[in-house]
Amino acid sequence: MRSFLVAPQSVKVARLLLAAGLFLGSLTGFAAEEPVLNLYSARHYATDEALYANFTRATGIKINRVDADDAGILARLKAEGSASPADVILLVDAARLWRGEVEDLFAPVQSPGLLKAVPEHLRAKQRPDGTRWFGLSTRARVIVYDKQKYKPEEVDSYEKLADPKFAGRLCIRSGSHPYNLSLFGAMLEHMGAAATETWLKGLVANLARQPKGGDTDQIKGVASGECGVALANSYYLARLYRSDNLQDKAVVERIGVMFPNQNSWGTHVNIAGGAVARHAKHPQNAVAFLTYLVSEQAQTYFADGNNEWPVINGLSIQNPALKAMGGASFKSEKLSASVVGMNQVKVQQMLDRVGLR
Ligand code: FE2
Repeated sequence: MRSFLVAPQSVKVARLLLAAGLFLGSLTGFAAEEPVLNLYSARHYATDEALYANFTRATGIKINRVDADDAGILARLKAEGSASPADVILLVDAARLWRGEVEDLFAPVQSPGLLKAVPEHLRAKQRPDGTRWFGLSTRARVIVYDKQKYKPEEVDSYEKLADPKFAGRLCIRSGSHPYNLSLFGAMLEHMGAAATETWLKGLVANLARQPKGGDTDQIKGVASGECGVALANSYYLARLYRSDNLQDKAVVERIGVMFPNQNSWGTHVNIAGGAVARHAKHPQNAVAFLTYLVSEQAQTYFADGNNEWPVINGLSIQNPALKAMGGASFKSEKLSASVVGMNQVKVQQMLDRVGLR
């Protein structure tokens, strides 16, 4: 396993923060910001605690965190308006980040460091006054299947999930959950409107049960035999792969994991990302924090701690669960996360028409 601590931390982080402009205030004669950062986060992963602690240790900036889900955070920012104490927003889906941008909840960020670290397709479209949000890690939406019943080649594309052979065998969480909306938004980009709507109809026809529960419930549905195929985000699977619990081990034994569309446009990946709040009271601290999150140390935490993939170049995957799942190297789609987010409106209308709730 890759070691979490990269020495000498203080020198590295100080360089980072200098690049992020944290010390701009003192260099230009303005008062420096008080060492506080108010964070609204939709990431609820225990391993992130270490990230925050390391940032505070390196900078002296204390983090006050508010936890809520993506929709709750966006609603709260809107309600609070200019009185909002939020400095940084962390969300876990491209469609939600896009929503925050169009509702003008994020401040433009001019940061050469962030632009360099985060590939263009994983951040908001760059505008002259700055960029509104940045992808910080990626997660793949993969197909889970009953390997006693199906061969890998029967489930090697998202399109095949609509095949009548899977009638009564498909399990998914709610169609309008952001993870599915983003996948469907990507399919719309790849296949066009007519083919996407036909495909969605096929999914509805194949459902084993009304959509319910989270991704882990779909995975367990395959293991129990109630479902034959399902969709799930990669990190939920990785958690099961890393679990010592005997029931989880039995689940892993029974299922196959497919990174679909390796012979076409690549597996759909979604992002978790961050933005500076529109009315941030500590904007320099906010940019410093986002910059810290694309440092090698923080990116390694995302990969090893929460089983995601880093967005920065040159970090090799040492996470045994991702390797075991076939996720050490795979072809991922290269669609703009912005475009995928934008497509959610059209896709939601399709879901209403085909009756996928
Ligand atoms: Fe999740």
